[in-house]
Amino acid sequence: MAAILEFDESTANSIANALGTNTFLFTDASQIPGHMASTGDPLVIIGPSVDQAVAERVTTAANLANPTGGVVWLRRRVDTTVVLEALRAGASDVIGDSDLPALVAAANRVAEKATLHATNASPDGAKRGATVTSIYAPKGGCGKTSIAANLAVLLSGEMHARVCLLDLDLESGDIQLIMSLPPGRCVLDLQYVADSLDATALASVMLPHSSGTYVLAAPQRPEQAAGITPGLIARIVSVASQMFDHVIIDCPPYATEHVLAVLDVTDHLALICTPDAASVKNTAISLELLSELRFAGSVDLIVNRAGERVGISATDIAEALDHPVTCEIPHSVDMPLATNSARLLSVSHPQHAISMAIRGYATFISPVPSGAQTATVPAQQTTSKRRRLFSRRVATT
Ligand SMILES: Nc1ncnc2c1ncn2[C@@H]1O[C@H](COP(=O)(O)OP(=O)(O)O)[C@@H](O)[C@H]1O
Ligand SMILES: [Mg+2]
Repeated sequence: MAAILEFDESTANSIANALGTNTFLFTDASQIPGHMASTGDPLVIIGPSVDQAVAERVTTAANLANPTGGVVWLRRRVDTTVVLEALRAGASDVIGDSDLPALVAAANRVAEKATLHATNASPDGAKRGATVTSIYAPKGGCGKTSIAANLAVLLSGEMHARVCLLDLDLESGDIQLIMSLPPGRCVLDLQYVADSLDATALASVMLPHSSGTYVLAAPQRPEQAAGITPGLIARIVSVASQMFDHVIIDCPPYATEHVLAVLDVTDHLALICTPDAASVKNTAISLELLSELRFAGSVDLIVNRAGERVGISATDIAEALDHPVTCEIPHSVDMPLATNSARLLSVSHPQHAISMAIRGYATFISPVPSGAQTATVPAQQTTSKRRRLFSRRVATT
């Protein structure tokens, strides 16, 4: 099966004849991602009449819609520049428009790759939506953004998952900065297409990071956040869920309407707590709110800056909150040092204790084929000493 994007009918027919398989001819580029997502068609042929900019856009969108497939470009002229541009755009091959045997060979390579992937896929073959993980703390400076960014690049770079990272800190988001991505496209570009938002529109505003993660950046200025409705955010997460294996959401430090909108579809809420009394108190309130909201997902308590000698341990936090700790991320100045040098610790130092801890959480939230999910991170069951820490240190009411 193949989708052909070509405006000249006779060229399109020659391509279809050469492929000798079920082909779908398109003259509207925006229909291709939907076709791939709904049919599982792995192959897109971009004909010679399609101009370069459209070819690049379709290639990005097609790769997002079906990353196990491939996009083959047919060009009137193939030289080093064209090949480099095609590969940079994510094409699997670029071939001269008269070299139909080479086209068939390229199509076969894509089909083999897709078959190989299908063989290794889940036995039921069912297409799952993304796992949505929201990183939240009711207080700024707890490490949400650092954890979200490192988690996303570990999932995409090392674990080869398709990952979208959404910066939901709409007024002061800094994902773009800490991932050293160029300013420009952001969620604001989607404010007028909310109802018609589809994979192509979403792909066109996301920023690709070298790890493979696609980032949807927050607006550049706080006053621009007013243009983003909770409905738009819900729609973005819904579309992204069909395009990616993981949607990671870096939340603001308040339970805004936008946060409530994503909670509805969140599978894992990574609730970040640091070993200080104020953070523990606010985390307790968040747990109460989540319970009142009947949040149906998994609440994963993450203790960041664990091990700091400040008189509160991860065990104290688990006991005080009466909630098990899913992951302990140690304190280390290497984290801000990496960020301040425009690096992500999990990329520059993959064996660092912080990287290892976040990798453990990445494994925890990744669905495993056997069905038996095991946390590889230090996890503790609490006793019934609920709020012991509070009675000892802080008043919660
Ligand atoms: N485990 C850690 N050890 C040391 N510093 C950390 C750790 N996690 C985060 N930080 C630092 O804390 C500061 C705030 O982190 P950030 O991710 O921006 O928090 P938030 O998004 O919750 O406001 C940054 O300077 C970051 O490098
Ligand atoms: Mg932040």
